[in-house]
Amino acid sequence: MSMQPRTVAYFGDIVGKPGRHAFAYAASVLRSQHPDIILITNAENARHGRGLHPEGYREIRDAGADAITLGDHFLDDERIIPLLNNPDEPVVGPMNVPESPQNAKPYFRIPETDPPLYILVVCGRVFMRFQSANPFDAVDSALARITEEADNALVLLEVHAEATSEKMALAWHAADRWPNHIVGVVGTHTHVQTADARIVAGRVAAITDLGLTGGHSGVIGFATAASLRRLRDDQPSGLELAESDLRAQGLLITLDPDSRAATGAEPFSIGVPGIIPDGEEPG
Ligand SMILES: [Fe+2]
Repeated sequence: MSMQPRTVAYFGDIVGKPGRHAFAYAASVLRSQHPDIILITNAENARHGRGLHPEGYREIRDAGADAITLGDHFLDDERIIPLLNNPDEPVVGPMNVPESPQNAKPYFRIPETDPPLYILVVCGRVFMRFQSANPFDAVDSALARITEEADNALVLLEVHAEATSEKMALAWHAADRWPNHIVGVVGTHTHVQTADARIVAGRVAAITDLGLTGGHSGVIGFATAASLRRLRDDQPSGLELAESDLRAQGLLITLDPDSRAATGAEPFSIGVPGIIPDGEEPG
């Protein structure tokens, strides 16, 4: 049975086990409030801070994610490649990165949605650690293909980028070039939720950065001591995670399939009670 996409919770980057735990908690809270909600999350740091391992993927799926996205760290765990290549697995990486596996899906259509809801991810070019192809051109070429595939497609675009300017410029580009199709443009990668959620051009739900799903007690999801070693002391540091003040952050997007536009863009930051469950962390 198909379902009209009306309410979407789009989560900011899950960092490690604290983030996976926070996602599972917030997913159950949101689903109890909105039974038909569609849950999407970036999870490129879900394997102890770098990449996504198959175990983490399965855990986030089991917690209720309808689609999972990755950014510039998408190949940090190459065991995810077969899933990126599999058109039926709801995990998608940035489509404008030259290193992308040849057979990786460029975007993902959430099954059973009518009108069909697509997820598309591009990486920005400003202050990023490697160069991607022009994300504006990438959006246009992807939308040409998507609308060829489904002329009634609705699309949520994730811009995985450092610069606020580049992310909001892409939201305006989407509203200008792809009205009636792109209904949301959300930023990821900085792990800091921005206070600029709005409806661009009366149609497109937008926020510069969704924030962090993970421990908020340190530096963007990582332990303070390790971050100081690296940033202040110029020393190499391992990946140690912030493990308290767990929150799941993102944007609640309300869609009106009849007018083919977003009508709501409400940021959320859901605090998680209790502690992270014990258990061995896989690979
Ligand atoms: Fe990133």
